[in-house]
Amino acid sequence: MMVQTQKQTESTPVLEVRGLTQRFGGLTAVNDFNVKLMPGELSGLIGPNGAGKTTVFNLVSGFYQPTEGQIFVDGKPTAALKPHRVTALGVARTFQNIRLWNDMTVLDNIRVAQHYQLGYGFFHAIVRSKHYRTREEQVAKEAEELLDVFDLKRYAEEMPKNLPYGTQRKLEIARALSSHPKLLLLDEPAAGLNSADAKDLIRLIRWIHETFDVTIWMIEHHMDVMMELCTQIKVIDFGETIAEGSAEHVRNHPAVMSAYLGDENI
Ligand SMILES: Nc1ncnc2c1ncn2[C@@H]1O[C@H](COP(=O)(O)OP(=O)(O)OP(=O)(O)O)[C@@H](O)[C@H]1O
Ligand SMILES: [Mg+2]
Repeated sequence: MMVQTQKQTESTPVLEVRGLTQRFGGLTAVNDFNVKLMPGELSGLIGPNGAGKTTVFNLVSGFYQPTEGQIFVDGKPTAALKPHRVTALGVARTFQNIRLWNDMTVLDNIRVAQHYQLGYGFFHAIVRSKHYRTREEQVAKEAEELLDVFDLKRYAEEMPKNLPYGTQRKLEIARALSSHPKLLLLDEPAAGLNSADAKDLIRLIRWIHETFDVTIWMIEHHMDVMMELCTQIKVIDFGETIAEGSAEHVRNHPAVMSAYLGDENI
């Protein structure tokens, strides 16, 4: 019985999306999108500007409710859930334009994020029960450890806006990991980085993938970053999947070249 349960868990995708469609008025931003990510994958989502990539992430993280389609996180349906409920089920994300809490210190950015997945209720918070205090102490300890492993400890009491841009990107990823996600969505983590910082970021993502028990799905325009990191890449254009496979496969795919260059250039 035990073995069977374990086997089922192992074969459950971390994320499964079926027939996902998002319309904004007359615009179909995402059309009949499907994906399955297995535990431990590091996969990519690419496509030209306006292809619908961020919309897919907004749907998967609960920021948008889909017009049609189903989303399962670790086998549980999430399409109707609010973002904090989706976070609690194990999905964390970063944003294309960094969204740190700029009126809180670096340490508090991590601490507050951790609260999203704390198990205590309102009652415990009011009476400050032993369980609550113990968890609070654990949170503070974990936040400091996380800053330490991300080499951010020296910035703990700084405000995020005073950090170099690449460091803000790193902090946003650290904050996302603080909720212990099963699935980490990175929306253009290399955007705005110079090539040295982009190389550091590649190393960071690889290290996270090796160190944390987390499945990573990332959007990125820097093809070299995707080639280095992703085993599987999905390509969308006008909300439709136009290619998928290895980085090598999609890079040489005629539909992908056409989508990026425009037909007149082919
Ligand atoms: N909240 C919204 N309301 C209306 N239209 C939207 C909304 N969000 C996205 N769109 C539209 O949906 C389409 C897809 O946008 P999306 O941001 O998902 O593209 P993207 O692939 O992430 O592009 P980029 O590479 O520029 O980030 C675009 O035409 C965009 O204008
Ligand atoms: Mg986008």
